[in-house]
Amino acid sequence: MSPNANARASAKGTVLEVKKLVKEFGGVRAVNGVSFTIQKNELVGLIGPNGSGKTTTINMISGVLKPTSGEIWLRGERIDGLPPYAIAQRRLGRTFQVTQVFRRMTVLENLLVPAFARAGAGAGASVSAQRDGDPRPRALEILRLLRLDHLKNEYAGNLSGGQQKLLELGRVLMLDPEIILLDEPFAGVHPKLKVQLHEVIRAMHQEGRTFLIVSHDLQTVFHLCRRLIVLAEGTKLCEGLPHEIRDDERVAEVYLGR
Ligand SMILES: Nc1ncnc2c1ncn2[C@@H]1O[C@H](COP(=O)(O)OP(=O)(O)O)[C@@H](O)[C@H]1O
Ligand SMILES: [Mg+2]
Repeated sequence: MSPNANARASAKGTVLEVKKLVKEFGGVRAVNGVSFTIQKNELVGLIGPNGSGKTTTINMISGVLKPTSGEIWLRGERIDGLPPYAIAQRRLGRTFQVTQVFRRMTVLENLLVPAFARAGAGAGASVSAQRDGDPRPRALEILRLLRLDHLKNEYAGNLSGGQQKLLELGRVLMLDPEIILLDEPFAGVHPKLKVQLHEVIRAMHQEGRTFLIVSHDLQTVFHLCRRLIVLAEGTKLCEGLPHEIRDDERVAEVYLGR
């Protein structure tokens, strides 16, 4: 990262820090000592060829996988080893590479599920104005933002792949996350919906939310993200501004080398 970008970011405070993260699957190191820091309101891309450890990394951060070793800090609190719901309560949201919507529920019902789940989780979570009371107005507002409001009574299973990705993002937004991890949000999405997805991410970013976007779609992340972290074979190859990464020979090598 350039000194300028560094100074700009550190003025805002660290949201997420991972230190020497390792994940082994049966003796194979899928992630091998990855460290990085994300500052508040950054829009960071996590890129790298297939199999480089991107999904495994965000699975560890979101609590889906327990790291073999290493540390994960969210706003100064160590969270590695916590279950996914506890991390979601700490306002870290994520979407999945393979979209997970409730196909036999309507679009609106899909958004209401996390709100009811949270209500059921008790008073442990921090309280914001919209956390209590009827979640419907917030759900409808999010559907309008995602331009899915005309589909609110449609079964989620009838939506296109791209619309399901938007819906999954909407479900994450219901939990009012401060930091959002997206795993391959653009894969298989129709170009028109891709533009729409960009707009939503930009709007959410302008609201002050922080993004870590996993993608192997280089053009898209170069365009959208302000800073990039590159993984290769489970280790961090480099990080920097998009133009620095674009001109980095090592990055070209790991992408073309496959
Ligand atoms: N549950 C698992 N069991 C065994 N190996 C896995 C598992 N998940 C991922 N891997 C392996 O870990 C490596 C990194 O995978 P992944 O994090 O999915 O990469 P990426 O998201 O960058 O494509 C790959 O070699 C993959 O085969
Ligand atoms: Mg992946």
